Amino acid sequence: MRDVRSRFHIRTFGCQMNQHDAQKMANLLHHDGWSAAVDPDTADLVVIHTCSVREKAEHKLYTELGRLLQRKQVEPSLLVGVGGCVAQQEGEALLRRFPALDFVFGPQNLVHLPELAREARARVRGLRVDYRDDPQARFELPELHPEFHPTSPGRAFVTVMEGCDLFCAYCVVPRTRGREVSRSSDQILAEVRGLASRGVSEVTLLGQTVNAYGRARPGMAKGEISFAELLRRVAEVPGIRRIRFTSPHPSFVSDDLIEAYRDVPQLCPHLHLPVQSGSNRVLAAMNRRYDRATYVDTIARLRAARPGVAITSDLIVGFPTETREDFAETLSLMREVRFTDSFSFKYSQRPGTPAERRRLGELDPAEAQARLVEVQTLQTELTLEAHGARVGERVDVLVDGHSRHGGDLTGRDPQNRLVTFRAESDIAQGAYAVVDVRGYTPHSLLGREAPSSR
Ligand code: 5AD
Ligand code: SF4
Repeated sequence: MRDVRSRFHIRTFGCQMNQHDAQKMANLLHHDGWSAAVDPDTADLVVIHTCSVREKAEHKLYTELGRLLQRKQVEPSLLVGVGGCVAQQEGEALLRRFPALDFVFGPQNLVHLPELAREARARVRGLRVDYRDDPQARFELPELHPEFHPTSPGRAFVTVMEGCDLFCAYCVVPRTRGREVSRSSDQILAEVRGLASRGVSEVTLLGQTVNAYGRARPGMAKGEISFAELLRRVAEVPGIRRIRFTSPHPSFVSDDLIEAYRDVPQLCPHLHLPVQSGSNRVLAAMNRRYDRATYVDTIARLRAARPGVAITSDLIVGFPTETREDFAETLSLMREVRFTDSFSFKYSQRPGTPAERRRLGELDPAEAQARLVEVQTLQTELTLEAHGARVGERVDVLVDGHSRHGGDLTGRDPQNRLVTFRAESDIAQGAYAVVDVRGYTPHSLLGREAPSSR
């Protein structure tokens, strides 16, 4: 055992893939004799795990790093590393710019974290941003210790593929996460079985274009199955009650996947399907590979297969050249599909992306901001409407904590809506409650545990 002061803290930004990678990183350090520090101020090693999807996310690195390197001036034994997507994007430039920074590593190199930490102790600075020669090797990591998995009791992430080959004009991900690679289904199913045997009942399958899973790509294991088939096999694992996945791309919502929504009860009645824009012209400029009508048709077929399925989405406003008319198409699409919820973002120009290389002019920031507010206002209206329609329903809630106000409990319903509810007595995190929905806010459904449901 290393001495008690060998403690690490990982500060993570970005998507669920990053959150899950942070769990893997914590696990690797744990195997190497480190222990986790909840408070970064008590840690001997702090890793900033970055996101570069938008400029704002990237800025967070520089704010945090500035603070840490200041602390290092008075506490020279502090070790500081930068991982994640900005690390991959900037690489050696980060080491040059911050002479006190100990190491930098990209998402495909997280397996090297323990050795980077050891080198840093020996005052050797490290850089690991090469893409792996063997893409499957990135999936060969030690099994997660229960301390770092699941995310909250009863739930866990499972990586099924990584990388992206689609090259949307705005997106930095193909540069930071590399080419698309699917993990072997045997490995995935073994992980799911292991999780289920430890009491996990809800799994979220992760990948940058998760439903491209299994399509033929260089470096992929041979004879692999389709994404829909993978869902079916995960559903057969005893103990798995809920399956979610993120993020899918509209182009790979196959007939087979829609059928899975009809036939596989474990597949949750929710699809987060990023559309980005309602304008065909903008969709083409973004290189999204589908048009509005195809997207709308996909949703209609899905709703026919699984009535009541909640549809959520991602939207970008102010993509270069987006006119007021294009933007109006986005608003009209939101109304047409009636998204239960959406994440909306102002376009942010990212280094090395097709849109940046084309030097398309950016919109006036005030106009972009006004469009964002309009989208968000409309979304609140749609969310309230969707929530309102659910009053009177009885739903299964996977309990994940206590609400900040009063003694209420919180959890997620099958549609992944946050539910805050009153129960007769405490219910353990990771257990299910049956809840009657009685009210709502824009952020959650409000309810009461159903009488004699236990
Ligand atoms: N600018 C703004 N939003 C972006 N997203 C991805 N790249 C950018 C960018 N350059 C959004 C998309 C994506 C979500 C994860 O982030 O909506 O679906
Ligand atoms: Fe951010 Fe995208 Fe990297 Fe996730 S994959 S951390 S969203 S840049």
